[in-house]
Amino acid sequence: MAVQRVAVVFFTLLTLSAAVRPLSKRSPSLQHSFSQVPPVCSNVDISGLQYCNTSLPYDVRAKDLVDSMTLEEKAHQLGNKATGVPRLGIPPYQWWSEALHGVSTSGPGTFFNGTVPAATSFPTPLSSTASFNESLWRILGQVTSTEARAMHNEGQAGLTFWSPNINVVRDPRWGRALETPGEDPFVSGRYAVNYVRGLQDVEGHEYSGDLNYRPLKVSACCKHYAAYDLENWEGVDRFHFDAKVTAQDMIETFLPPFETCVKEGDVSSVMCSFNQINGIPICADTRLLSDTIKGDWNLHGYIVSDCDSAEVIHDAQKWLGDTQEETVARVLRAGMDLDCGDYYTNFTAPAVMEGKIRESYLDNALMNLYVVLMRLGYFDGSPAYEKLGKDDVCTKDNIELATEAARQGMVLLKNDHNVLPLSTEKYKKVAAVGPKANANYDMVGNYAGIPCNMSSPWSAISKYAEVLYAMGCADVHCTNDTFIFPAVEASRNADATIILVGLDVSIENEALDRTDLLLPGYQTELINQVANEAPNPVILVVFCGGVVDISFAKDNPKINAIIWAGYPGEEGGTGVAEVIYGVYNPAGRLPLTWYKNDYIHQLPMTSMQMRPQYELGYPGRTYKFFNGSIVYPFGYGLSYTQFQTTLVHAERSVVTKLSPRQHCHNIPRKWDAYLNPCPAVLVDDLSNNIKDETIDFQIQVKNIGQRDGHHVIIVYDVPPEEYMGLPIKQVVAFKRVALKAGETQTVEFKLDVLKSLSVVSDTAYVVLPSGQHTIMVGDGDEAVKFTVNVRHIK
Ligand SMILES: *[C@@H]1O[C@H](CO)[C@@H](O)[C@H](O)[C@H]1NC(C)=O
Ligand SMILES: *[C@@H]1O[C@H](CO)[C@@H](O)[C@H](O)[C@H]1NC(C)=O
Ligand SMILES: *[C@@H]1O[C@H](CO)[C@@H](O)[C@H](O)[C@H]1NC(C)=O
Ligand SMILES: *[C@@H]1O[C@H](CO)[C@@H](O)[C@H](O)[C@H]1NC(C)=O
Ligand SMILES: *[C@@H]1O[C@H](CO)[C@@H](O)[C@H](O)[C@H]1NC(C)=O
Ligand SMILES: *[C@@H]1O[C@H](CO)[C@@H](O)[C@H](O)[C@H]1NC(C)=O
Ligand SMILES: *[C@@H]1O[C@H](CO)[C@@H](O)[C@H](O)[C@H]1NC(C)=O
Repeated sequence: MAVQRVAVVFFTLLTLSAAVRPLSKRSPSLQHSFSQVPPVCSNVDISGLQYCNTSLPYDVRAKDLVDSMTLEEKAHQLGNKATGVPRLGIPPYQWWSEALHGVSTSGPGTFFNGTVPAATSFPTPLSSTASFNESLWRILGQVTSTEARAMHNEGQAGLTFWSPNINVVRDPRWGRALETPGEDPFVSGRYAVNYVRGLQDVEGHEYSGDLNYRPLKVSACCKHYAAYDLENWEGVDRFHFDAKVTAQDMIETFLPPFETCVKEGDVSSVMCSFNQINGIPICADTRLLSDTIKGDWNLHGYIVSDCDSAEVIHDAQKWLGDTQEETVARVLRAGMDLDCGDYYTNFTAPAVMEGKIRESYLDNALMNLYVVLMRLGYFDGSPAYEKLGKDDVCTKDNIELATEAARQGMVLLKNDHNVLPLSTEKYKKVAAVGPKANANYDMVGNYAGIPCNMSSPWSAISKYAEVLYAMGCADVHCTNDTFIFPAVEASRNADATIILVGLDVSIENEALDRTDLLLPGYQTELINQVANEAPNPVILVVFCGGVVDISFAKDNPKINAIIWAGYPGEEGGTGVAEVIYGVYNPAGRLPLTWYKNDYIHQLPMTSMQMRPQYELGYPGRTYKFFNGSIVYPFGYGLSYTQFQTTLVHAERSVVTKLSPRQHCHNIPRKWDAYLNPCPAVLVDDLSNNIKDETIDFQIQVKNIGQRDGHHVIIVYDVPPEEYMGLPIKQVVAFKRVALKAGETQTVEFKLDVLKSLSVVSDTAYVVLPSGQHTIMVGDGDEAVKFTVNVRHIK
């Protein structure tokens, strides 16, 4: 009944407002330069309406547009498939496009069936992260947005791309690790800033002026906010999962990449995830959306739901027993502007009519959306980009960038007796065996587009040597040993053996977590049999996102070298071959801790806690909190050359002179041997004392080997050891540098004291602990260290 009554009201509203009718006056002079998508305002006679009046600010124009719409019309613009308002000259718009590592087929806003048949498919973010090269991440964003704009001009893509995925990889079973920048929140934040700025920034407008006006090349979206990294584990799926997260872990691990993305990347959208946090669906949490993203972080843009989140809250979570109208009212009030799905479209107008929410909430959401479209030139055009078209996609340079990204992401994990690189003279005939020897489309991973060109390892290696190919397994599942013997045979007849194994998106993917950290099926069998029978050097190449326990190969002296190839994108084969033959000297580092398989038996995937839980026997997570035995550590990676690092400039101290009104903050100590009267001070309270205070240091890096190479320098803070529950260490800076053989370079770092030396207390304060911090450049035996003494003086 209620529904029927509401429907009548709509009809009346529509009839009434249909009287206001300015429309369509084609402007031929503007039109010719756009093959498919003319700007909205080139078609609208602006005399009646102000939303196309370019002398007005965007928010005024957006308000004019929204004020001209009926309630029903507004509701229809709040889903990803906005219907448009023909009588106001507003065309339909599909908000959902994706560009995780190149323009993707995943969103319905993008098509590959037109003038542009393919786009450059870069390595997935995890592989690009392994380069630890911020300028690479930015260029990948820039080239992706150029191709996106070109496809948009050809009518094949939108302007709003729901990428990147910057969730921290908390658990090694997560199926979407390949999509992310890995397990470290600092690295993830840096990745987000660079990729987002690459996608969004218009040259010359990177930082200038009013951020509500800043033009956008395309709009990016940092997702999935927050504490989202479980797909489906032992019957718990992401739609029903209530992540029990401590405030400490939120502040320290799960929020920082998003905070950095918004504050430093100035991203124009954030996506809220399906799961709940501590009993509240995230998309319905006012504190997490409006207060934090829009308030504390000052988002200039819109918040979108993960697709069908509103429906999930209603149908799967049955949150508070709400009706559909109550659900949309609640998420709209929380700050969710756009619904990927049709809940807003179907239920916001009734929710307003039933008095569940004020219509002004719809207005505000729409204004956030239209201002983003205005910044994108959707209304007025984008002269800087209007010439882009099909010839700007899959260019030679872009494909070369895909190759370069593949090279930079390769991680050399083992190289006994420098067996690599192979010389073409000595190894004229090689066996390329295993389910990844002929990898193709599987190298681009998920959320990919149609690649321009594919380079399989087999074909790329055959540029350097005669290749004896044997698949070894029918596919990555490798359910039997039928094809192992031919691989052993191939190896016997070759000068060297390259075994190419790993996972694909039938094993790790969205909606698909892993059940163990092993290579699937008979792959281990294949590797062992081939290696043990091989009369020649054996090189193992592993393609995967999530980690695999390859301790057996690490420990097998018959396996001389191991390369982690990740998901290296469309030119992945070339990247692998160039590393094997030394055309490129690898420098990538692991963005994840490579745990042993028994790790997953020690704790359930549903345990969100980062620190060990001794009472439950759960170990800690990531390099920050897990001190058990592993296969390879976070940040690990070798080179064909050697680097020597020395500290040019060392020890120093930080002294804060506290005023009588500044308080010391107590944090739990391991021992009370000498009672420090002022163990810590809140960072917020210190902004007047040592704001902008930095620790500047220089290190000298020398390439002492015979080959040119790149060196990744990762800088950690090791907090004072007397406090309980602090991270073992935390990344505070990193840099990738290029050094010719014999070359020495001085590399400078500037650490912001309040950012780099602070920790998150057990009650979620961000504090600067006093005591001896160690700044560690590099890791393990080769680390170069110096100490920084922090003293708070009352
Ligand atoms: C556009 O806005 C300006 C500033 O308010 C106003 O002076 C002008 O008349 C408007 N133009 C049209 C065509 O309405
Ligand atoms: C491409 O596919 C989309 C969606 O199926 C369709 O709307 C569009 O007309 C197609 N374009 C061409 C050129 O076939
Ligand atoms: C929304 O309305 C459309 C059209 O009436 C209908 O096809 C669709 O199933 C509805 N969606 C939901 C979630 O109710
Ligand atoms: C395309 O891939 C092939 C190998 O399949 C490779 O030889 C070629 O160089 C690639 N094309 C470009 C433009 O890089
Ligand atoms: C081995 O696996 C392949 C591919 O799954 C299948 O075609 C073949 O029949 C299997 N062989 C045996 C002996 O089970
Ligand atoms: C790991 O940390 C725990 C708790 O501090 C300690 O008891 C244990 O000895 C450590 N293990 C290793 C291998 O360092
Ligand atoms: C980082 O990547 C860019 C883009 O590919 C490249 O030009 C630069 O040389 C790389 N830097 C290092 C140190 O490898």
